[in-house]
Amino acid sequence: MSETLLKVHAVETYYGNIRALAGVDVEVKRGEIVSLIGANGAGKSTLMMTICGSPQARTGTITFDGQDITRLPTHEIARLRVAQSPEGRRIFPRMTVYENLQMGASLDKLKHFDEDVEKIYTLFPRLKERQAQRGGTLSGGEQQMLSIGRALMARPKLLLLDEPSLGLAPLIVKQIFDAIKVLNKEQGLTVFLVEQNAFAALKLSDRGYVMVNGRVTMSGSGKELLANPEVRAAYLEGGRH
Ligand SMILES: Nc1ncnc2c1ncn2[C@@H]1O[C@H](COP(=O)(O)OP(=O)(O)OP(=O)(O)O)[C@@H](O)[C@H]1O
Ligand SMILES: [Mg+2]
Repeated sequence: MSETLLKVHAVETYYGNIRALAGVDVEVKRGEIVSLIGANGAGKSTLMMTICGSPQARTGTITFDGQDITRLPTHEIARLRVAQSPEGRRIFPRMTVYENLQMGASLDKLKHFDEDVEKIYTLFPRLKERQAQRGGTLSGGEQQMLSIGRALMARPKLLLLDEPSLGLAPLIVKQIFDAIKVLNKEQGLTVFLVEQNAFAALKLSDRGYVMVNGRVTMSGSGKELLANPEVRAAYLEGGRH
């Protein structure tokens, strides 16, 4: 059995009086790719954000790399090397590609800076071609690459990706998912992925969770979930399978 890197236990998160997470249990082991699928409004982004400490869980516990992070402020969670590519990408639109990557590097990693930038340019050659271009003028796919690249500059132990494929053409989605696979296989990077594109996500993942109305309703290996009739009916109908 491989070691648990992230453990979310009985977590409830509220926005005011509205309970967005209603007792969530999720586990990610070191070296795994785990995906979280579910309909709009299920609470997927809320879980990602709760792991990063904003909003904080009202009840339950979140453990990362053996440490209780439930009450830590976001910047301290980031220092433990949890990096996020949030929904909507959130790159800095007026900064260049290169400057965006600089923003992702934490201060104590500066001695690796040039090497890390080169690694990201190898992973996404398009970013190298565009390194002097402002983030806001990149295409959607390039912005997604930049958002992932910026997260990688922190040398994360855990990479959280919220809807990397959103709004992108199939060819670009494939490039992004291939890059995630390479990072996982070649560098052992642990990835927790939120996706509407259930087919592509489950195919890539070791394991997956299905979330409905703030609760995890199903979990299993990527293969099991892809073959599950309920999953197929709810999330894969009309998909490429
Ligand atoms: N800042 C907020 N204030 C109040 N309610 C919020 C806030 N953010 C999210 N919610 C609510 O919490 C619930 C879960 O939202 P969340 O964004 O986590 O869903 P999601 O699964 O990521 O959906 P999508 O697939 O559309 O991105 C929704 O009902 C949403 O309206
Ligand atoms: Mg979301």
